[in-house]
Amino acid sequence: MAAKDESRAEALARELGPLARAASVEDAIADADVVVFAVWLDTIKELIAKDARLLDGKVVVDPSNPLGFDESGQMIRTLPEGQSSGSVVAGLLPAGVHYVKAFGTLVADALASAANREPRRAVLFYATDDDAAATTIEGLIRAAGFEPLKAGGLADAGRLEMPGGDLHQGGGLNGQLVDLDQARSAVAAELSA
Ligand SMILES: NC(=O)c1ccc[n+]([C@@H]2O[C@H](COP(=O)([O-])OP(=O)(O)OC[C@H]3O[C@@H](n4cnc5c(N)ncnc54)[C@H](OP(=O)(O)O)[C@@H]3O)[C@@H](O)[C@H]2O)c1
Repeated sequence: MAAKDESRAEALARELGPLARAASVEDAIADADVVVFAVWLDTIKELIAKDARLLDGKVVVDPSNPLGFDESGQMIRTLPEGQSSGSVVAGLLPAGVHYVKAFGTLVADALASAANREPRRAVLFYATDDDAAATTIEGLIRAAGFEPLKAGGLADAGRLEMPGGDLHQGGGLNGQLVDLDQARSAVAAELSA
């Protein structure tokens, strides 16, 4: 675990138990096989600019959205229509990185509460062009208590993002959690549209 304020990462690691531990951002990246950038898009850009060489050869998981808030607190899109946050992040990474868009299609409360749902697990969609990243993320999504489903490649990342992504719980899925059959239909719906 890493954070801007390392004491927060330490507190979370303590809460999670003996298999978790806190480190500086640089040490956390250097020691990991898989790096989940659970930070805002602008922060991801800063971290890649600073630590790109540490990322080479690793799986990088990107849950980010092109989202910000205006002065009145209204959610706004921070990238031009049609440009995904995934395309921006992937474009900044060294060529040896295994990039995958994942872990962002549920809102935080649902991600926390819907793990190991019964009788049918809730789906987390992912998108990647990279087979190694796909294998890794499927394992991580299952370990987290969800069902993985590939929505497509990097060109489809925008479907997994807010605002507007048709495969995002807060977008086209209208707050729903979907099981594997529903998720397959949702992926196919756009492809056949
Ligand atoms: N929240 C959701 O429902 C949701 C759903 C899907 C996807 N996402 C995406 O997930 C990402 C994170 O969202 P969030 O809601 O979790 O944001 P958040 O609650 O604001 O948390 C941001 C995290 O980034 C850390 N951070 C900030 N600057 C940093 C730096 N320079 N170096 C290292 N860590 C830094 C913060 O550390 P400190 O704790 O020390 O400040 C904090 O842990 C965003 O890209 C968002 O679009 C969020």
